Amino acid sequence: MLDTPLTRHAGVEVPAICGAMYPCSNPELVAAVSEAGGLGIVQPISLTYVHGHDFREGLRLIRSLTAKPVGMNALIEQSSKIYRERMERWVDVALEEGVRFFVTSLGNPRWVAERVHAAGGVVYHDATERKWGEKGLAAGVDGLIAVNRRAGGHAGPKGAEELLDELAPLGAPVVSAGGVATPEDFVAALRMGYAGVQMGTRFIATTECRASDAYKQAIVEAGEDDVVLSERITGVPVSVIETPYIRRMGTKAGPVARFLLRGRRTKHLMRTVYALRALRQLKRASLDETGERDYWQAGKSVAGVESIEPAGEIVHRFRRAAEEAAKTAAPAGV
Ligand SMILES: Cc1cc2nc3c(=O)[nH]c(=O)nc-3n(C[C@H](O)[C@H](O)[C@H](O)COP(=O)(O)O)c2cc1C
Repeated sequence: MLDTPLTRHAGVEVPAICGAMYPCSNPELVAAVSEAGGLGIVQPISLTYVHGHDFREGLRLIRSLTAKPVGMNALIEQSSKIYRERMERWVDVALEEGVRFFVTSLGNPRWVAERVHAAGGVVYHDATERKWGEKGLAAGVDGLIAVNRRAGGHAGPKGAEELLDELAPLGAPVVSAGGVATPEDFVAALRMGYAGVQMGTRFIATTECRASDAYKQAIVEAGEDDVVLSERITGVPVSVIETPYIRRMGTKAGPVARFLLRGRRTKHLMRTVYALRALRQLKRASLDETGERDYWQAGKSVAGVESIEPAGEIVHRFRRAAEEAAKTAAPAGV
């Protein structure tokens, strides 16, 4: 069960990814997941803007904490030339620093696939439905991350099983993102036919994550029904814990924003305005111990998070559960 196309592609022991998280991916968390045998993914804006590292120095800090593989997330929506150039530099620096696993989101991943393949690496692309999977594979990616409706961050519209049915026939390895917090969830995803899982929410409630204690505790305490979608942060629905602050703010974009988000000419500008504001707000909220402006992103998997613990413990538990499940599984063909 632990030998999957993902573990072979990424060179890791446990097919469990700590997904990129703005603003929650800090070097210590990424390194802890990789050191335990999973795969930590670097989120470049989180590494630099939230946690204050120069990009290359941040990668070297991670390297000083683990010699095992780590990955990098490249959000490649072409919203501005400056952003695209910066992302190209980040990808090049990551390749120079030995990163060989990349997760691309939005946009066309062709340029990432070309550069990464030239260096002998692999690229997995986020897909919330079949057409994005097809597009990613046509652009040359090696695998897909199936982001389902239970995911933290920007969730997709479909359930894990339905999404696998759509994506598996495309012939590339598919990793499940969304709703996994417990070893049972992990084993169920592998049994369903996924090559691994990508988790976000579960890894926020860890000792290595630098999010505030108030945020981590809110994840431990929240149940599934406390997680709602809000358009007020980035202009498209983001999964958040329904705190009194979120209730006060409402979850719908205002009428003017909605009008501008719909317009063909204005939607890119509006998205950029939202994105910049969101970067600031989410950074402040994740680090703020007072919890006054509690914009706390999390997915439905909060239901399976019962304590704050070291990230490595989670990976070890998953490894043990998969080993146990493999022992009790019926031999192939029976
Ligand atoms: C706080 C938070 C921030 C996230 N930020 C990003 C991001 O910057 N880029 C990205 O590709 N995915 C992002 N995600 C999605 C995660 O990488 C992962 O796919 C998702 O959390 C899986 O669902 P789960 O939270 O139920 O485990 C984020 C998720 C969370 C919870």
